[in-house]
Amino acid sequence: MSEKKKILLCVTGGIAVFKAAALTSQMSKAGYDVKVMMTQSAMKFVTPLTFQTLSRNHVYHDTFDEKDPSGVAHIDLADWADLVVIAPATANSIGKLANGIADDMISTTLLATTAPIMIAPAMNVHMYEHPAVFANMERLADFGHRFIEPGEGLLACGYVGKGRLAEPEEILKAVQEFFEEEENQVLSGKHVLITAGPTREQIDPVRFFTNRSSGKMGYALAEVAVSLGAHVTLISGPSHLKQPYGVDFIPVQSAAEMYEAVMEKYNEADLVIKSAAVADYRPKETFESKMKKKDGNLSIEMERTTDILKELGKRKNHQVLVGFAAETDDVTRYAKEKMEKKNLDMIVANNVSQQGSGFEGDTNQVFIYGRDGHEMESSLLSKRQVAEIVLKECLRYLEGPDHK
Ligand code: CTP
Repeated sequence: MSEKKKILLCVTGGIAVFKAAALTSQMSKAGYDVKVMMTQSAMKFVTPLTFQTLSRNHVYHDTFDEKDPSGVAHIDLADWADLVVIAPATANSIGKLANGIADDMISTTLLATTAPIMIAPAMNVHMYEHPAVFANMERLADFGHRFIEPGEGLLACGYVGKGRLAEPEEILKAVQEFFEEEENQVLSGKHVLITAGPTREQIDPVRFFTNRSSGKMGYALAEVAVSLGAHVTLISGPSHLKQPYGVDFIPVQSAAEMYEAVMEKYNEADLVIKSAAVADYRPKETFESKMKKKDGNLSIEMERTTDILKELGKRKNHQVLVGFAAETDDVTRYAKEKMEKKNLDMIVANNVSQQGSGFEGDTNQVFIYGRDGHEMESSLLSKRQVAEIVLKECLRYLEGPDHK
């Protein structure tokens, strides 16, 4: 490691404090500069001397014990850290951070830091499942803090369930992955525009045409693009998924609305990935009032929507353009035809009739075809893994000569 990464380890009070000692040792051995801060309750389980010896640094626990007159310790430490890890994080410390309470050295430092925060909870299973604790964790996740999930098993309190602090090895791995990700900001400075989900084409105030797209693939792309440092705009049709952290989110309903939103952002985009399942047709007539049933059959005349991707292909100047193709047969031929017809740089196709590759699921198997003739087939992977592959493939075009 060229320059040592600086980790502030916040140890809050629970029986799992002993594991934080092992974590300190492992992080120091892995080459990180670790400084430890403890709550009063944490010190009832393990003494500061243990952490001082393992980290080779002074241990902090008292906001008012200012040893260095040239600074304010909790602010200096908040600024010093490249990463803050709270392990173990008790229900109380999680609750305080979620609600902006600063009544001891750790909680004050946590509000003062701008470094990323990683939280490894440890508590009794019923506490972990309590709606108040759950809501606090959701809130912290919305703030962009990361969680290292507790393990399941026999807890120190005698209960079996979820709540046991993740093993030091797992926490160290998450820390290492965090720093690797930070060094791998390959999309930094790039604006990535992603569309996701289905569209809804209104018939009357209570009825619409739609499709089975869940938005999972597009949301996974947005999440991965954010983690690679991109500025991401996610334009999404109706979806039950949670808005990914760190994106500019634009909700839309119909193909026409999606068209407007995409066109507005197109010029500033470097990469556009159209994973949305846009309706090809909409009812020609939309009724202001609810349609009443009548005897006999009903025919609804449908008209074509604008093919957004094709329009983008026509107006392409510097953007890298990626489409999706959901097929049931002759995948390669249809996908390549679409790439050609819509003037794309790349197309991601899947066979939706294959098990594990359809709509709504958590997995996908894709075939990627590039304008430069490059082709690849993925195995059946999670949509997040597919998103990583797709974005990696896009890099070739973003770094290529046509992208100015
Ligand atoms: N697309 C779009 N606007 C539309 C329809 C589709 O931007 N009105 C985009 C999708 O987001 C996707 C790609 O085009 O990236 C899908 O191509 P398309 O040929 O429209 O697929 P299908 O609708 O499945 O077409 P077909 O019925 O011809 O297979």
